[in-house]
Amino acid sequence: MFDRRFLIFTMFVATVGLCAGCRCSPSTPATGVTAGAEDPKAALIKRGKTVYAGNCIACHNPDPKLAGSVGPDIYGSSLELLRARLLKGGYPEGYQPKRPGAGMPLFPHLEPEIDALHAYLNAAP
Ligand code: HEC
Repeated sequence: MFDRRFLIFTMFVATVGLCAGCRCSPSTPATGVTAGAEDPKAALIKRGKTVYAGNCIACHNPDPKLAGSVGPDIYGSSLELLRARLLKGGYPEGYQPKRPGAGMPLFPHLEPEIDALHAYLNAAP
C-alpha cells in the first residue's frame, strides 16, 4: 500500500516538474517583424537592438556608446560605414577607423538588417 502511494506521489512530482520545465519562453526572433501597433521607427530601432545584441556584443559593448572588449564604440555609425564593415570589410573612403586592425568578421547575412542596426545605433538615448 505504502509503495503504491509513494509511486503515485513520485509520478505527481515528476509531472509537476515536467510541466514547470517546459514553460516555453516566448520566441524572440532575431529577424522577425514584431511591430504590432508600434510606430515603424520605434519598431525598427527595437529590431536593430535585438540584432545588435545577438551579433555584435561579443566584441562591442552592450552599450554602443562605450568601447567594447575588442571592438570600439560604434554609436552614431553611418549607413555607409555599417555597410562597409558588415558586407565588404574595410571602410568608406577617407574614413579614419577608431581602431586599427581587421579583427571584425563580415556579416553578409545581416544585409537586410543594416537599416535596423543603423536606426538603433543612431537613436536618441
Ligand atoms: C569578433 C568581434 C566583432 C564582432 C562580433 C563585431 N565586431 Fe565590429 N569591430 C570589431 C573590431 C575588432 C573592430 C575594429 C576594427 C577591426 O579590427 O576590424 C570593429 C569595428 C567596427 C566598426 C567601425 C568603428 C569605427 O568607427 O571605426 C563598426 C561600425 C562595427 N565594428 C560594427 C559592428 C556591428 C554592427 C557588429 C554586429 C553586427 C559588429 N561590429 C560585430 C570586432 C567585432
